[in-house]
Amino acid sequence: MATADGTWAYRNRFGDSFGRTYFRRFPPGITSSIGIGTYLGDPTDAVDDQYRAAIETALENGINHIDTAVNYRCQRSERVVGDVLQTTNVDRESIVVATKGGFLPFDGQRPDDPGTYMRKQFIEPGVVDPETLVRGSHSLDPTFIDTMVDQSLSNLRIETIDCYYLHNPETQLLNADHETVYDRLEAAFELLERRRAAGDIGVYGVATWQAFRVPDSHPQYLSLPAVIERAEAAAESVGVDDHGFKMIQLPFNVDMADAFTIKAQPTEKGPVSVLEYVHESDLSVVTSASIGQGDLAAALPPEVDAELSGDTVAQRAINFARSAPGVTCSLVGMASTDHVAENIAAGTFDPLGAAAFDTIFE
Ligand SMILES: NC(=O)c1ccc[n+]([C@@H]2O[C@H](COP(=O)([O-])OP(=O)(O)OC[C@H]3O[C@@H](n4cnc5c(N)ncnc54)[C@H](OP(=O)(O)O)[C@@H]3O)[C@@H](O)[C@H]2O)c1
Repeated sequence: MATADGTWAYRNRFGDSFGRTYFRRFPPGITSSIGIGTYLGDPTDAVDDQYRAAIETALENGINHIDTAVNYRCQRSERVVGDVLQTTNVDRESIVVATKGGFLPFDGQRPDDPGTYMRKQFIEPGVVDPETLVRGSHSLDPTFIDTMVDQSLSNLRIETIDCYYLHNPETQLLNADHETVYDRLEAAFELLERRRAAGDIGVYGVATWQAFRVPDSHPQYLSLPAVIERAEAAAESVGVDDHGFKMIQLPFNVDMADAFTIKAQPTEKGPVSVLEYVHESDLSVVTSASIGQGDLAAALPPEVDAELSGDTVAQRAINFARSAPGVTCSLVGMASTDHVAENIAAGTFDPLGAAAFDTIFE
C-alpha cells in the first residue's frame, strides 16, 4: 500500500523539477496534484494496450495517483492498472491506487443481454438486494460493496486499496428519499470501516457527480456534513476511534466550477461552497473531468486563459482545476502517452494563489 515513506521517496526522486505545491499532503503521505484517470475508452484490447503504456509513463515521470473503478471499461481499466503495478519499477509503496464501487460491472465486454447478465450475476446469487437496486445498475448494499471490494483487490492484484470511493451515491436518490440514502451510506461505511480494520482499504470516501455541487433544492443534493456524521456513526458502531472517511471526488473545471460557486453546504455561519467546507476540514478533494472530458484542451474562455500558466491550453486547463482552494489532486483521463507527457508538464508551472484564483470569479 502507499506509505508516508514510499510517497515521500517518490517526491524526492523528482527533486525540484515541478512547480510550487505539485506534491500535496494526502493520507498517509503525499500525492502528485495531477492524477491519471481511466474512465473513457472502449472495452477493447487496443485501448488496454494504450492505457498500460500511459499509466507506466505517468508513474515513471511524476504522477503517483491512479484513479479507476470496478465498472470502468467492463473491469478492463482495473485489470490494466493491475498489470502495470506488477511490471513497473516504481515501488508499490509510492503509488496511490484509488477505485470505486457502486455500479454493477460487466466482465470484459458488454453482454448481449445486460438485464439477464445482471440477474444471473448479482440478483440470483444474493449479491445485490433488488430493493436497493436503482435503474437496474446501481446499489450501495453492503453485501454488494463487500463483493466489489474483493473484486477490485483481485483485478488490481494488490493487498490494500489506498482509497475506496462509493461511486455516485446520489444515484440512489432517484428512487429513495434522503433519509433512506443517508442510512444506506452509513451501512456501507460500516462495511468499509470493517475492511479498513482488516487492512483491505486505506481511506474511503464518495466519488460524486451532482451531490455536493448542486443547490440543496436539487433532487440529487447531498449534505457533506450529514455524510460525515454518518461516517462518524459507522466508525462508532464498528468500534473505531477515527473514521476513515477522508476523500471526496467531484467534477471541477472551467465550465463546471459549481463546487466553488454554489453555496449549499450548511455551516454555523451559513451555507458555503463544498470547496470552502472542505478547506476547513481534514478531507481531501480530488477533481474529475478536470479538462471537461477533453473539450477544454481545445479552448478556454480567453479571460480565464490569460490568468493561467502553461505552454498549452490543456496544461492551463489542468492548472485551473488544481489551483482551486481545497483541491488535493486533479484527475485527467489519459490513454495517450503524448497526453501524459503534455499533462505532467503542467505541473512544472506554479498553480494560481488563492487571491488570483478568486479574481477569476469577480
Ligand atoms: N463520478 C465519478 O466518479 C467520475 C466521473 C468522471 C470521471 N471520473 C474520474 O476522473 C477522471 C478524469 O475525468 P475524465 O476522464 O472523465 O475527463 P477528463 O480528464 O476531463 O478528459 C479526458 C479526455 O481528455 C483527453 N485528453 C487528455 N489530455 C489531453 C490533452 N493534453 N490534449 C487533448 N486531449 C486530452 C483524453 O484523451 P486520451 O484518453 O486519448 O488521452 C480523454 O479523452 C476519469 O478518468 C475517472 O478516473 C470520475
